[in-house]
Amino acid sequence: MKEMLLSSTGQDAKTVAIKAAREAGAILRQHFYRKRKIETKGNRNLVTEADLLSEKCILNILQEEFPGHSILCEESGKHDTESQYRWIIDPLDGTTNYAFGIGHFCVSIALMEGNDILMGILYDPLKEELFEAQAGQGAYLNDSPISVASLRNLNTIVIGFDLGYSDTASKEMLSRANALWNPNITFRLMGSGALGIGYVACGRTDLYFHRSLYPWDIAAAILLVREAGGEVTDWEDNPATIRSSEIIACGDFSAYQSLISALK
Ligand code: IPD
Ligand code: CA
Ligand code: CA
Repeated sequence: MKEMLLSSTGQDAKTVAIKAAREAGAILRQHFYRKRKIETKGNRNLVTEADLLSEKCILNILQEEFPGHSILCEESGKHDTESQYRWIIDPLDGTTNYAFGIGHFCVSIALMEGNDILMGILYDPLKEELFEAQAGQGAYLNDSPISVASLRNLNTIVIGFDLGYSDTASKEMLSRANALWNPNITFRLMGSGALGIGYVACGRTDLYFHRSLYPWDIAAAILLVREAGGEVTDWEDNPATIRSSEIIACGDFSAYQSLISALK
């Protein structure tokens, strides 16, 4: 990464992002085992005290280390500067899982330069799994290289998806899943879009789809899949951007072409 991505204390962006993800993850872990304070943002859309504490922790670290950079956070919105560098933060992806004591959630941190995703980090604090990718440098899980799944020939295709908070998109996704149904497919409702896409990157699932996502859900995970040899597209087959609310992430689009056509 470029010189100007050294922080005010001389650390590179990846080191700072990993520190922020681990510290925020530790907060999530501590509060997960306590009585959780939960509020409602909308139908089925919850926010916990831990979402806010995690975001504050990440913001404090990034603003101290990179005071000139812009930041977009799920909970507190935009913290804009003139910089072409922008961090995209989801302090807790999988809040509903978290709020109900289901241990599948993560912190997501991405760094962008203009429209390019330079770096993506996902940290699952309960499993202590750190997914990390930098543009052009591959994708890693706890420092070991990862890649998307190759065809398994097990007569089992694992497809993750999630429903989100839009009634229309959720019903649509359920009906698409129903239409796809065949004896070789097994579905997983992940409850964390970021990990859902991240699991495609490390070959745990073959495909993930969603029709109602936000930049903080996907910014880091898109880069992970691409650096792991897969692709993430929007519903019109264009490469996904952080503004794509409808996405399909897949290790091998040509191998699953008929399935993807059926999905649409
Ligand atoms: C949500 C999760 C969920 C997905 C939603 C997202 P949050 O993020 O990723 O799996 O279905 O669309 O908004 O609210 O837990 O950060
Ligand atoms: Ca999210
Ligand atoms: Ca969130």
